[in-house]
Amino acid sequence: MEVAKTIESIRRLVGTARSRGKKIGLVPTMGALHIGHISLIEAAVKECDFVVVSIFVNPTQFVPGEDLEKYPRPLEADLKICRNAGVDAVFAPTPEQIYPGENLTWVNVEKLTEPLCGQFRPGHFRGVTTVCAKLFNIVAPDIAFFGQKDAQQAIVIKRMAADLNMPLEIVICPTVREPDGLAVSSRNQYLTAEQRKDAAYVYKSLQKCRQMIDAGIADTRKIAVEMRKILQQASSIKIEYVSIVDAETLQNIDRIAGKVLAAVAVGIGPARLIDNILVDAGKQ
Ligand code: PAF
Repeated sequence: MEVAKTIESIRRLVGTARSRGKKIGLVPTMGALHIGHISLIEAAVKECDFVVVSIFVNPTQFVPGEDLEKYPRPLEADLKICRNAGVDAVFAPTPEQIYPGENLTWVNVEKLTEPLCGQFRPGHFRGVTTVCAKLFNIVAPDIAFFGQKDAQQAIVIKRMAADLNMPLEIVICPTVREPDGLAVSSRNQYLTAEQRKDAAYVYKSLQKCRQMIDAGIADTRKIAVEMRKILQQASSIKIEYVSIVDAETLQNIDRIAGKVLAAVAVGIGPARLIDNILVDAGKQ
């Protein structure tokens, strides 16, 4: 496995692979790799002939006061995980490589970035789409792989790629969960043992939502009330939002119909955790 620290070196590696007719896969990450990332890498290895993992803690997607400084950066452990997972090249640039001076060009997806996390993290998605556009331009993958856990991010990136005619496919892979249902996340490591127990209530609230939809309850306000009751059982949880939205437009809906995204964001101690489920309710 090669480790490229500069744009020139990753371009050279990918260029050689492409000239040999290889299909290029990219798994963009901020490092602190866990089994969720490994599942993305496995999907990439299965689909592609040359897999690049980018490891870059992107400063422009952190809102002031967030955990940019203390975000874990265990590069050596990450490289070992990549090597074991069959990655061909890791791209681990410095912030100066990606943002060499004042950045005057930003990619901004409208509307889809306003609800859900967009309300609480102003500028976050602009940072995500800008860095992903840069990574797509640098690596030029045939396919890029993202996780369903960050549902809004996945939808926004898909839209950016479509609207800007980017010549790649975006593949969204299922959320990987701990045995108690907690979605794996690099930020789970911020939790104390007690907070970690409480964190399981996030998925419990989403399961409640699914049960209610399955039982034919279509009033989203009623469902959200019950989801909140579950989250309130955990003393360390501070609810940011509980939303039931149209899975394509991300707009709030009053009644369950068609493809629905139920999404939750909470604060638990120092961690901000998000999770979601997609439900295809057809016509109710
Ligand atoms: O999901 C993430 O880890 C990041 O938002 C991403 C897509 C790597 C962009 O920095």
